[in-house]
Amino acid sequence: MKIKMRECLSFDDVLLVPQYSDVKSRSEVNIESRLGNTTFPLPIISSPMDTITETEMALAMGEAGGLGIIHRYCTIPEQVGFVSYEGVRAAAIGVTGDYFERASALHGAGIRIFCLDVAHGDHSLMRTAIEKFKEEYGESVHLMAGNVASRDAYERLSEWGADSIRVGIGGGSICSTRIQTGHGCPTFQSVWDCAQSDRDTTIIADGGMKTSGDIIKALAAGADFVILGSLLAGTSETPGELFEGKRGKKYKVYRGMASKEAQKDWRGAHSSNEGVSTTVPFKGPAAEVLEDLENGIRSGLSYSGSRTIYGMQFKAQFVKQTGAGQIESSTHILRR
Ligand code: XMP
Repeated sequence: MKIKMRECLSFDDVLLVPQYSDVKSRSEVNIESRLGNTTFPLPIISSPMDTITETEMALAMGEAGGLGIIHRYCTIPEQVGFVSYEGVRAAAIGVTGDYFERASALHGAGIRIFCLDVAHGDHSLMRTAIEKFKEEYGESVHLMAGNVASRDAYERLSEWGADSIRVGIGGGSICSTRIQTGHGCPTFQSVWDCAQSDRDTTIIADGGMKTSGDIIKALAAGADFVILGSLLAGTSETPGELFEGKRGKKYKVYRGMASKEAQKDWRGAHSSNEGVSTTVPFKGPAAEVLEDLENGIRSGLSYSGSRTIYGMQFKAQFVKQTGAGQIESSTHILRR
């Protein structure tokens, strides 16, 4: 028996070494990225979760230059309703049950970017779904598939025909997959590993990014885009009620799609719980959050002496930091 074990790094384990820079202003930096035939000015995608992306969030993402993926945890007519707006548009579907009927209805509504949205994307069902899509729509649609955690899985999905691949399993803020199943891999490491492949299928880092610094680390490690849940949770455009907590503070619900609460709502029952449901403070308009993140990304590129994401990937030098380094990297006066 051959058991394999190696060290894997997470966002907080690493830092980017600042590089010589002649970038004089953040406005000189171009942070656009390509998804299929479309160039997006902002490399950020909002997660297809029922407390993150319906029409309002998708519109806000489009306004900011990114992309919103309409979640699939609703009936087909409801989802078709959510995608019925002008702009850039993408929608999620599964790989079992009525997924192809859903895909046909969404295709009829003009959707050309499909997210084959499953927790464990390195699966025979994913292969069947990709093949069915290719047979029906050829190259006329963009297929975002995932999620995967390893280079092998990334290469398999790429081989099957995925146009972009979501990378990251169990790292999301609301995930309990690693606790429940013992499986997963730090998202930073997964992105790094996939980026070492000779295949150049678009990499979308997904799960676990807490700050713009984490986003820059993901992009520098080889991601073309990032998917965000918690960083956008609690903004005005997320679905769900705003409610008042103690001392008049306002909150919204953010929940994992495999949480007991979400599963009960979307399919009336729950099996394995691999996520949690929680409340997060109200953050106001998504545009303000996205502007902060964009400024952070631009600043990060300037520290790397690069004017493009690709340029930064070419020059990036990571260092591993110790526990003491992690403390020094934090705003440690707040710990005293
Ligand atoms: P963040 O950290 O941005 O992560 O909040 C969002 C990503 O988490 C994934 N996701 C889940 N993963 N159980 C999981 O293990 C869940 O219930 C769950 N719901 C969402 C998903 O990839 C999302 O983009």
